[in-house]
Amino acid sequence: MLTILGYGAALPARIVTNDELATMVDTSDEWIVSKTGIKTRRVCVDETLTDLAYSAACEALQRSSTDPGDLGLIVCSTICGDFTSPSLACCVAERLGVSVPAFDVNAACAGFLYAINAAAAQIALQTKIKSNFDGSAHGDSKKRILIISAEMLSKHTDWTDRNTCVLFGDGAGAVVAEPGGGLRYIKTYCFPNREVLYKADATSSPFASYDIPRGYLRMDGQRVFKFAVSKVGEMLDGMMNSMSLTPNDIDYFVLHQANKRIIDSARLRLNLPEDKFPTNIERYGNMSSACVPILLSEMWEKGMLKKGVRLFMSAFGAGLTAACCYYVCD
Ligand code: UT7
Repeated sequence: MLTILGYGAALPARIVTNDELATMVDTSDEWIVSKTGIKTRRVCVDETLTDLAYSAACEALQRSSTDPGDLGLIVCSTICGDFTSPSLACCVAERLGVSVPAFDVNAACAGFLYAINAAAAQIALQTKIKSNFDGSAHGDSKKRILIISAEMLSKHTDWTDRNTCVLFGDGAGAVVAEPGGGLRYIKTYCFPNREVLYKADATSSPFASYDIPRGYLRMDGQRVFKFAVSKVGEMLDGMMNSMSLTPNDIDYFVLHQANKRIIDSARLRLNLPEDKFPTNIERYGNMSSACVPILLSEMWEKGMLKKGVRLFMSAFGAGLTAACCYYVCD
């Protein structure tokens, strides 16, 4: 599978507080903090999504002592890049000045783990192709993979809808990976349900028999909440069964930062201390697929990702998608 060599993150400069939101919609700091744990979020003003993605990528490249020329692949996860086409990954490749395969995955908030899965699959494929050719494992000099999750939810949010606008934020996280044994288990899921969380776009085709109004993110919060609480538990149980692990074998639970109450419910179910569940939701809100890699980058900065540290990561989002992995730091 793969091993992560370096972590990076980038956040827009503009901070939006709950009190500021209370001047825009009928809400309060007390409601937002007690219902979600969010105190502030970052929102793009001048930054493009490519700016954020590139900046997170540069940090991960620098921390892993990787020259862009050492990259063999770029995978981005995002619900929407700066352009419908070309992909965000291609925009980042252009900024880095590299000509390597580059593509986006859209699995909403589970996107980072879907992208890790795609990268691991690519490594497995390359290894197999290489061994078919000359009997050796994949080992050329361009084997490193840049994986970026970048989201600008401020662009997709209805800022007059208090049910959603208090939840989201913008940001990007990145990792540089290469073939290795850090990733021990990964699983991706989709439980199709379009109604509980979606964003519609306009169709302008004169041939279309239906009309989809230009839309913002809409969500049935309670149904997503229930889905999240049950799926995080089920995914963890499934991973532990497969790997013959117990909750005490995990050092940190790096969970999607959608709601502090969802994280707390996973922790209380396992009866584990709060310091095993790092968070940044209080500062950044829900940044969709960027939550997990930004949190990883912050954990790395705090020295929490030393060799041998065992992580359970999981995320869920529109689709409804879900994904989890077990990763042992190399
Ligand atoms: O990344 C994955 C996607 N998202 C999620 O994982 C989100 C999952 N869901 C949630 O986090 C929670 O469902 C929310 C935080 C969105 C809402 O919390 P809740 O406990 O499910 O509240 P609710 O939707 O049942 O609303 C309770 C009340 C309602 O008023 P009434 O009908 O009881 O009078 C809402 O209208 O709170 C009201 N409300 C608000 N009040 C103040 C909804 N949003 C707000 C708000 N400020 N921002």
